[in-house]
Amino acid sequence: MTLETPERIQSMWEAASTQMRERRHPDDFPALPDIPAARYTSEAFYELEKKHLWSRTWLFVGLAHEFEEQGSYRTYTLNEAPVVVMRGRDGEIRAFHNVCQHRGSLLMKDEGGVARNMRCLYHCWTYDLDGKLIFVPDEHYFSGLNKEERGLKPIRCEQFGSLLFVNFDEQAAPLVEYLTDIPALWSDIPLDDLRLFDRFSFEVDCNWKCLQDNFAENYHAKYVHENTIDKVIDSKTSALQMLRGGHNAIVIKSRGTLTSGMGAAFFKSEDDSAEDQASKLAEISRSGQRSYNIFPNGTFPIAEYLFPIVMVWPIDAGRCKVEVSFVKTGDGPANEKLDADTLTFFKSFIGEDLDALAGMHKALAHGGIDSIPLCWSEQFIYNHEQHIDVVMGRENVPQELAVVAVDLPYAHA
Ligand code: FES
Ligand SMILES: [Fe+2]
Repeated sequence: MTLETPERIQSMWEAASTQMRERRHPDDFPALPDIPAARYTSEAFYELEKKHLWSRTWLFVGLAHEFEEQGSYRTYTLNEAPVVVMRGRDGEIRAFHNVCQHRGSLLMKDEGGVARNMRCLYHCWTYDLDGKLIFVPDEHYFSGLNKEERGLKPIRCEQFGSLLFVNFDEQAAPLVEYLTDIPALWSDIPLDDLRLFDRFSFEVDCNWKCLQDNFAENYHAKYVHENTIDKVIDSKTSALQMLRGGHNAIVIKSRGTLTSGMGAAFFKSEDDSAEDQASKLAEISRSGQRSYNIFPNGTFPIAEYLFPIVMVWPIDAGRCKVEVSFVKTGDGPANEKLDADTLTFFKSFIGEDLDALAGMHKALAHGGIDSIPLCWSEQFIYNHEQHIDVVMGRENVPQELAVVAVDLPYAHA
């Protein structure tokens, strides 16, 4: 396993610095074949993703703390399907198709709230918080209706710490297996105690993978983020590790221990308690920025107190929505100024990314580029694209759209 200890990260940074000085990439790194550009633009590929990717993967939908009490719920549209996530009377959080089992009306219409039951507005069929059908008006009009068989259709819903994921595939491997090496890499994070601090979203005119790729490489940092991120971290001194399952992990060396101002909340300040300093999270956070891509559409740039979880959701082949959930770990120090600075800093550099991506869909979609070459520091994109084909089934991907299978140097548990 790599990237777990500060010592290992330090040695990978040293290797990266040496490579940079010697102007080379690691000798044993495989050549990466080009990615067909049409994967980002073709309707056919988008349809394949709907059918075989989003229907089979664990998708992050929020934090357990957002479902504080019995009946707390949120509604979603995931892969075009209406979904409701609800905390039941027994305290368990469940997911269901948000569809009435009478004639298929949309059941819960608000974005979220606290409900006493789930009642369809059409003919008042009513379900309890666990999805069981409990009331049918004039039930005697139906011949042979068995309410027990007409509960809401469940969707797999599992938690990793307080992170909630759903999966439409009843046969899917459990979430913790799906996450491969991530649980070991996050063993120092107080995952049971993450709380939502702020959430916002924006829409972008490009394929969802253009954004996901953007959050998976730092090749652009020096140019796009010259006056923001690049001032804070040294993207050329990065410890990168592709993980099995299409996930990725990176720790980028910071340019110093920041104590105030822009970006400070991403790093450890000097005056933290001795107890905190003893923790691995503190040690790594003091010297670098950690970030993880969770397949297929999540990015988790972990920091000690306050950090964003960035999800990219497709709207259509050429448009996507980026949803940012800022979370706080445990009960870190309340520092409103630092929190506000962190959000301002994040919004400013994500704005720079969006400026860079403006017009990308049109540029990609009209025959001006056939295929995409990737460099060593863009290797996470290859891992992502290759794993998309693995999940969708290589037999389902037309050859002109497929990624060439490469034996990638994964971390081994
Ligand atoms: S469709 Fe919901 S009660 Fe008829
Ligand atoms: Fe960026």
